[in-house]
Amino acid sequence: MGTMKVAVVLLCFTSVFLSAAQAYQTKKDAKFWDDFYVNFGDWQVGYPGSGEDTGKVVDLALDNTTGSGFRSKYPYLYGHLGMKLKLVGGNSAGTVTSYYLASVYEKWCELDFEFLGNVSGEPYILQTNVFAEGKGDREQRIYLWFDPSEDYHYYGILWNQDLILFLVDDTVVRVFHNSKDLGIPYLEYQPMYVYSSIWNGEQWATRGGADKTDWSQQPFIASYKDFDVDSCAVFGHGEEHADTHECYKKLYSSWYGDAESGKLTQKQIDDLKRIQYNYVIYDYCTDTERFEETPKECARNWPQ
Ligand SMILES: *[C@@H]1O[C@H](CO)[C@@H](O)[C@H](O)[C@H]1NC(C)=O
Ligand SMILES: *[C@@H]1O[C@H](CO)[C@@H](O)[C@H](O)[C@H]1NC(C)=O
Repeated sequence: MGTMKVAVVLLCFTSVFLSAAQAYQTKKDAKFWDDFYVNFGDWQVGYPGSGEDTGKVVDLALDNTTGSGFRSKYPYLYGHLGMKLKLVGGNSAGTVTSYYLASVYEKWCELDFEFLGNVSGEPYILQTNVFAEGKGDREQRIYLWFDPSEDYHYYGILWNQDLILFLVDDTVVRVFHNSKDLGIPYLEYQPMYVYSSIWNGEQWATRGGADKTDWSQQPFIASYKDFDVDSCAVFGHGEEHADTHECYKKLYSSWYGDAESGKLTQKQIDDLKRIQYNYVIYDYCTDTERFEETPKECARNWPQ
């Protein structure tokens, strides 16, 4: 009975909020809590620095009891979203630092960066994936051309009506084109939250558990700073029914939705070719054991 009452009260409460959307840009010198909140393992989250600087950097830790993570306050529809990360150093085998955008709808949409740690001196793997309307299975794995635990590097997404770019510093490492003309669903109307977390993925990440997590090294810490959002935020409860009209207006009037941003620049084409040639270690598009028929969008994933 008690629960019923609460449910009714909540229902009335939420209906008071009308959903709305509005252009959203991170404030200069934004603090972590302006745009995000911790969504699990809050006792594992640290805010190094002091005074005015507190909140500009966030540390997420993993130990043998739990990992930790955060989520953006609002979901965003289209835009340019990113931040800087410094990953777990030393023997990070078994740790997975995920940084992703995900929708709240039933027809799941998600854009993933997953950093798979490694034993000391061996390279991290960056796995990316794209889920559109519940369909994923689009993993790509690359090595990075730097040690991501030495310093902060920028990881971000550019998302507009024509394409989605995965960015590492100023290099495009992956593109997902709008291929609705080929019958492939695109991420086009569902706002997505920004998430990050660090967790123990030793069974999954380290070649089937070949390299165990070395818990004597705990806590494992990943650091974040320079939160950077230029997008459209959807406010209010029940984002499934949100009025996202403002977000389309913003899209078509902003730099990230203009004609130029809808296609790759020559530099981006060159970057993608270089990545494909030098850094890709797994590409679902060439996994013939897994897919009898090459997924249709694959013809567009890498520039010819
Ligand atoms: C976790 O690590 C602590 C500190 O090393 C240790 O005392 C504890 O037994 C460990 N717990 C588990 C479940 O392994
Ligand atoms: C770790 O390094 C080894 C050796 O270079 C490599 O084969 C492996 O793919 C790397 N990544 C993981 C997650 O084990």
